[in-house]
Amino acid sequence: MAEFTLPANSVVKQGKLFRAADGATNIRRFVVYRYDPASGENPCIDTYEIDMDSCGPMVLDALLKIKDEMDATLSLRRSCREGICGSCSMNIDGANTLACTQSIADIKGDVKIYPLPHQPVVKDLVSDLTNFYAQYASVEPWMKTDTATPPDRERLQSREDREKLDGLYECILCACCSTSCPSYWWNSDRYLGPAALLNAYRWIVDSRDEAAGERLDELEDPFKLYRCHTIMNCSKVCPKGLNPAMAIAETKKLLVQRKI
Ligand code: SF4
Ligand code: F3S
Ligand code: FES
Repeated sequence: MAEFTLPANSVVKQGKLFRAADGATNIRRFVVYRYDPASGENPCIDTYEIDMDSCGPMVLDALLKIKDEMDATLSLRRSCREGICGSCSMNIDGANTLACTQSIADIKGDVKIYPLPHQPVVKDLVSDLTNFYAQYASVEPWMKTDTATPPDRERLQSREDREKLDGLYECILCACCSTSCPSYWWNSDRYLGPAALLNAYRWIVDSRDEAAGERLDELEDPFKLYRCHTIMNCSKVCPKGLNPAMAIAETKKLLVQRKI
């Protein structure tokens, strides 16, 4: 097998090569971004050869095998390994996705793994999502009401109204969508990005919430909402199959409708 070589114009340098144990015959190669800001060194790319006969089927299985058996210094986030917690989001084979639900067999050639794009790196595959979470918090993602809570029951919702939340409530805040959006790359200080906007819309259309008007007022801003130029990367990459672009378009429509 030829050794992995970075293109001559790559700005990230080649790092170490970790070979599979002698006798391994079913080898896949994982090419992983490494960066430790505390070291003072530039980022580099390490290469790990893995014997697939002793590795699980998902990219997260390979990363955990690397960490457990080959190189304990590799940093990554994960928790549920079931596509539920959103913490293992990263850029795999050129697309943002969840390492725990990305099958290795579906990737051709070397498996290239980078942190989510255009976010500061805490270490290796761990992105700093402080701004992302602050933007989520800024849409006040909880039910707001003025009327008194019924004394004898919950605030009820019809089946039809509940269905309006389908495709919205399932968001796991993995940030795959926002960090794949070019508008977000260039304006993440002022553009809220698809994840926060999908969650804002989730509360705007919740029949039990009584603050839709205020929520729309907050979004009526040239940057917060209108920096979405319908590029659609967000909907293409969402590992939960959600459609943030649609939620953004519907929010824009509501803003127009309330002026008529
Ligand atoms: Fe992740 Fe999809 Fe939610 Fe975006 S909309 S944060 S991609 S689950
Ligand atoms: Fe970005 Fe999605 Fe809009 S990729 S520009 S948020 S449609
Ligand atoms: Fe929870 Fe991947 S580990 S989504």
